[in-house]
Amino acid sequence: MRPIGEFLSSSPSLRIDDLSAEERAVYATLKPERLPQHVAIIMDGNGRWACRRSLKRFVGHQQGAKAVQQVTETAARIGLPWLTLYAFSLENNLRRPRAEVSFLMRLLKAYLDNNLERMRNNNIRFRYIGRTHDLPAEVQDKMRRVEEDTARNSGTTLTLALNYGGRSELVDAFRALAAEMKHKQLSPDRITEEDIHRHLYTAHMPDPDLLIRTSGEQRISNFLLWQIAYTEIFVTERYWPDFRGVHLLEAIADFQGRERRYGGIGEDGGEVEDDPDRIRIAVN
Ligand code: FPP
Repeated sequence: MRPIGEFLSSSPSLRIDDLSAEERAVYATLKPERLPQHVAIIMDGNGRWACRRSLKRFVGHQQGAKAVQQVTETAARIGLPWLTLYAFSLENNLRRPRAEVSFLMRLLKAYLDNNLERMRNNNIRFRYIGRTHDLPAEVQDKMRRVEEDTARNSGTTLTLALNYGGRSELVDAFRALAAEMKHKQLSPDRITEEDIHRHLYTAHMPDPDLLIRTSGEQRISNFLLWQIAYTEIFVTERYWPDFRGVHLLEAIADFQGRERRYGGIGEDGGEVEDDPDRIRIAVN
């Protein structure tokens, strides 16, 4: 088990007064000592949001970018240390029409251009994960610059998963680990879970406590496969462009009502037999 203090390098400051009245009302119901450390979101439904309004898909993505800004700033105000958003998967890159992929890339670049000042003002640190070396050079360049510019911010770390796939992350981790084992001449039976964790893109952050998916689909879609082993999942019917900070807070309220057992026995789990050897086993 990794000590939790290892991940608490950033201790974001609270700015509750900057929440909207609606957000403050939900925040007031939360237990501040039980806030999740890491929330991950599968942002889904941009296309359907647009289709419902007889608009082109790109309008849905544009509204989706506004939702990214608003949700991230609410996360910063409540002092959420880690927020990870699935913005563009490897499969999106391979399977979407070129025009849509190209639009998403331009939108990402414009988002970073237009939001750098807001990230500075909100003390947000920007990071990214995925096979980002396959993205257009000017987008990579912008991502690197914003990451460097915000590296010293101590508030919420906003991580965008871009050209990301959970299985390819594991392939990259296993390749790196195999190279390390070979270099150190270690036998494979020495490999531990911790070794694999160390080579993930997310090695520097705790696993998500809460995974939110918008638009009602009950799928993981190749997102953070290793990291969500014990993550609580919250699915909302709301399409991503309509998702706001208040909905993040509602998801956190739902999360706080759950009991996390990590494979153990919960508070209502019943009595444990003192002497299990006395119990006669009948299997029919
Ligand atoms: C899923 O909706 C969303 C995406 C594939 C891209 C996510 C992009 C954004 C939220 C906007 C840009 C983000 C940033 C950070 C600037 P979908 O197109 O799969 O929707 P559908 O399932 O209804 O078709």
